[in-house]
Amino acid sequence: MKKIKGIILAGGKGTRLYPLTKVTNKHLLPIAGEPMIYYPLRSLTSAGIKDIMIITGVEHSSGITSMLGSGKENGCNITYRVQDRPDGIGGALKLCKDFVGDSSCVVILGDNIFKEDLQKHINTFQAGTDDCMLFFKRVPDPRRYGVGIFDDDKLLEVEEKPDKPKTNLACVGIYFYTNEVFDVVDQVKPSGRGEYEVTSINNVFVKNGKCSYAILDDWWSDAGTMNSYHKTNRAIFEDGGGG
Ligand code: DAU
Repeated sequence: MKKIKGIILAGGKGTRLYPLTKVTNKHLLPIAGEPMIYYPLRSLTSAGIKDIMIITGVEHSSGITSMLGSGKENGCNITYRVQDRPDGIGGALKLCKDFVGDSSCVVILGDNIFKEDLQKHINTFQAGTDDCMLFFKRVPDPRRYGVGIFDDDKLLEVEEKPDKPKTNLACVGIYFYTNEVFDVVDQVKPSGRGEYEVTSINNVFVKNGKCSYAILDDWWSDAGTMNSYHKTNRAIFEDGGGG
């Protein structure tokens, strides 16, 4: 049975939410009365994951540590690492190798908010032999995301932000990996925009036949643009969620 640790990626520059992110970390902005990062943190802790690493960028990293401290108030143990340069989700992942050790990990993007209960998916992953599990959700605007290409039920590839998406199934910002991911990250080359793309990492697992996937049952949002930030706030307020 795979042991599981949690990782929240809260680096990057938050440029799409500028000027809100001029003096604070994007992941501290309020979503329905709570800091954004509380949501991914709660997704992990409510699935019983207590050992959590948070990656922040250089800018405003102290805000994150002041907000969350050791993790005691939120029922977990938090370890922090700073990503010097926003060289992508893969770049942030590279910093987590020693923390994960011989465990597996659930990686959540700090601006992705899930209603989905992760426990059943974690159980499936833990019991299986795949090295990667991805999650998809049908969206009206797939060009913003990694998009799944399927042959019937078989996942063939994920395309990052395609101009002409072949499906409307977005690959959402939660990824389950065994520690094989750290070998894969080292094989991946930076993209044209100089980032180690999570989609390049995921496609290695897909091509090797070591990747499973599930379609999310419940609501999900990426709050990283001004429009989606607003919509996420409204949706959670209307749903009675948040602080
Ligand atoms: O929201 C889901 C999408 O997230 C996926 O469908 C895409 O495949 C994936 O590439 C990603 O796309 P985004 O353009 O939304 O990623 P973004 O650059 O906004 O980064 C997402 C989070 O990752 C952000 O909250 C902070 C963290 N991050 C990002 C970068 C570039 C880091 O920790 N370090 C980084 O260097």
